[in-house]
Amino acid sequence: MSEPMNPEADPVLAAIRERRSIRRYSGEHLSKEEILTVLEAGRWAPSGLNNQPCRFLVLPPDDPRREGLTAHTKYAHIVRTCDVMIALLLRKDKLYNARKDHQAAGASAQNMLLAAHALGLGAVWLGEIINQESEVLQVLGLDSEVYELQAVLALGRPAQKGSSERLPLSEIVLEGFAS
Ligand SMILES: Cc1cc2nc3c(=O)[nH]c(=O)nc-3n(C[C@H](O)[C@H](O)[C@H](O)COP(=O)(O)O)c2cc1C
Repeated sequence: MSEPMNPEADPVLAAIRERRSIRRYSGEHLSKEEILTVLEAGRWAPSGLNNQPCRFLVLPPDDPRREGLTAHTKYAHIVRTCDVMIALLLRKDKLYNARKDHQAAGASAQNMLLAAHALGLGAVWLGEIINQESEVLQVLGLDSEVYELQAVLALGRPAQKGSSERLPLSEIVLEGFAS
């Protein structure tokens, strides 16, 4: 039998393993190139039938809508302290299968988190904010007939090391491969 792969030896595998949610930021701004690199990663996510239903709205630090968002999430401190926010939306007229389109949004979010990690940035997926989707879309000036809010990603230069754990494979793989 071949040796198990060493995830550290491959940058993609290492990023998947080492990316952590980062919720504290230094305050130093991101460059336009960094933001574009993260957006590119979101753009290249897979989608069912390649229907590409995701849309991104970038909120730079001085965007006045940011303060409006703080009333609609318990993560207001992250909204105030991160550098850039990316609202991840689905365009309703591009959807073909609700479950698959939502999965595509998840793939896009994860691609962007991994890209941020690869650039040495800190990022976190804010999902709680979609509990107040209609208010958030209103603050963002987006038509709820056209867009569905999937998540907001908060990005900045990291001022903490993240930490997290995962269940062992033996608990999550149903049959075999439990070593
Ligand atoms: C769908 C989804 C929603 C999430 N919502 C939030 C959120 O609202 N606020 C937050 O601080 N983290 C949020 N997270 C981040 C998770 O808490 C985090 O991914 C999990 O604890 C594992 O930690 P890690 O990302 O460092 O590996 C969310 C993650 C996902 C995938």
